[in-house]
Amino acid sequence: MQEDYIVQMRGIRKQFPGVLALDGVDLSIRRNQIHAIVGENGAGKSTLMKVLSGIYAKDAGEILFDGKPVVFRSAMDARNAGIGLVHQEPQVVPTVSIAENICLGQLPHHKLFVDRRTLLEESARVCGYVGITKPVTMPAGRLSMGEQQLLQFARALYYKSRLIIMDEPTSSLTEHEKEHIFGIVRKLQGEGVTFVYITHRMEELFELCDEATVLKDGALVTTVKISEIDKKGLVNLMVGREVGLNFPPKAEAAGREVLRVENLTKAGLFHDVSFCVHAGEVVGFGGLIGAGRTEIMDAVFGMNPADSGKVFMNGKEVVVKSPKEAIAAKIAYVTEDRHSGMVMHASIRENMTLASLKTFVRHLFINEGTRTQTAEKFRKRLAIKAPGLSTPVDNLSGGNQQKVVFAKWLMQDADLYIFDEPTRGVDVGAKEEIYKLIRELTNAGKAAVVISSELPELIGMSDRILVVHNGAITGELPYQEATENIIIQYATGVMKNG
Ligand SMILES: Nc1ncnc2c1ncn2[C@@H]1O[C@H](COP(=O)(O)OP(=O)(O)OP(=O)(O)O)[C@@H](O)[C@H]1O
Ligand SMILES: [Mg+2]
Repeated sequence: MQEDYIVQMRGIRKQFPGVLALDGVDLSIRRNQIHAIVGENGAGKSTLMKVLSGIYAKDAGEILFDGKPVVFRSAMDARNAGIGLVHQEPQVVPTVSIAENICLGQLPHHKLFVDRRTLLEESARVCGYVGITKPVTMPAGRLSMGEQQLLQFARALYYKSRLIIMDEPTSSLTEHEKEHIFGIVRKLQGEGVTFVYITHRMEELFELCDEATVLKDGALVTTVKISEIDKKGLVNLMVGREVGLNFPPKAEAAGREVLRVENLTKAGLFHDVSFCVHAGEVVGFGGLIGAGRTEIMDAVFGMNPADSGKVFMNGKEVVVKSPKEAIAAKIAYVTEDRHSGMVMHASIRENMTLASLKTFVRHLFINEGTRTQTAEKFRKRLAIKAPGLSTPVDNLSGGNQQKVVFAKWLMQDADLYIFDEPTRGVDVGAKEEIYKLIRELTNAGKAAVVISSELPELIGMSDRILVVHNGAITGELPYQEATENIIIQYATGVMKNG
């Protein structure tokens, strides 16, 4: 029956230069449900939702909203019709007040005048609902990452959205913030709101969603009820083959010491941090988001140097005050921010190889052939979906951009590789390949540090795990002793051995 659906998209087609992003996709979303959209990086998930929310014009197809055909010419059109969008990266103007960020410039009017009182009252009301306690006149830039994410929900409520689309909203949130957002989602569902949820995290999907639509290469695979499928079955539908979800074998024995950190301290962020990493070894850093893991690595890499403490590379003390000095000391760092260090309008090949040009020089000239071959090897292995190596990275899907950044750092000739959440936003098939590539590095005698907030990944990848809580190492575990439960106890400060 038609009325069961809040949205029906039929035959949606979207062509980008060289890429057919959506090839006649059908999607029906039942009213009042939480509907997941899943698929590999570049499958077309974000594009389909951008078409639904008026950001992209479709080339063909029709959209019924509430049973009626609609054409949204802009995001504002869709918003006013009751469709709200929550992006992975909060869309806020930091210098402008929370209230104005919520109404997005569409200020309420009374006769000819801007009705500030209504704006302040309404935005305070929606902020209260989602749990933002700061005054709405405060600049939005003063909100934390999690609060900025909440602001997007507040905005959706302000516009009385009946359908809220969430595109990977939780990837940089703490566990606590994530649970808070899931609480809001369930509360709103109870009040009749429908949700679309895009995620690569299967646990969250099974926790929250009622139905899932699988996309592959811009086409619809199927829509299934979550109660009628398991994780493995869903992954197989996404990837079109069996994915083992296995981790490569652990190190046989650790070699010489590569990195040693002694008593690293930075006021307010971390204190007295000491550890070492050996050749051939993957050392995992566990902990809650915000515990200080990234800040410690930022200091080791010289992005945000520590106040005191010592760093040794290959037995020699190094003073690293900038990333340039870190690279000279043979340290490579894949940061969690996929945009930092990327030249958005430049090609995949340029972005992958620019930082490691030295390695392609032969007889004073850059060997362009080897350079292309190397880039192509990584494109294949990481299954980067693009028409070719010359495609600009800003045309890539979120997960594929992440893979380019990963490849870029892997090409550096370093002794120590630090990976901060290396698989965030990356699909299951490519995750497996990233695990293998990291192991290949350490098997070749390199040392690796992996920060991961996904516990199965942390345990599966690491030979040894250090847990950080409140800026200090609270626990150290060989992988044989690491369980999710013990790591959580160290990560929350319940237990301590470090
Ligand atoms: N603005 C654009 N210009 C050119 N190509 C684009 C553009 N946006 C997306 N594409 C291409 O369309 C395809 C679908 O991309 P989309 O962002 O929808 O993928 P996705 O399923 O959201 O992937 P991910 O899981 O990585 O976020 C990809 O091949 C992508 O490179
Ligand atoms: Mg996407």
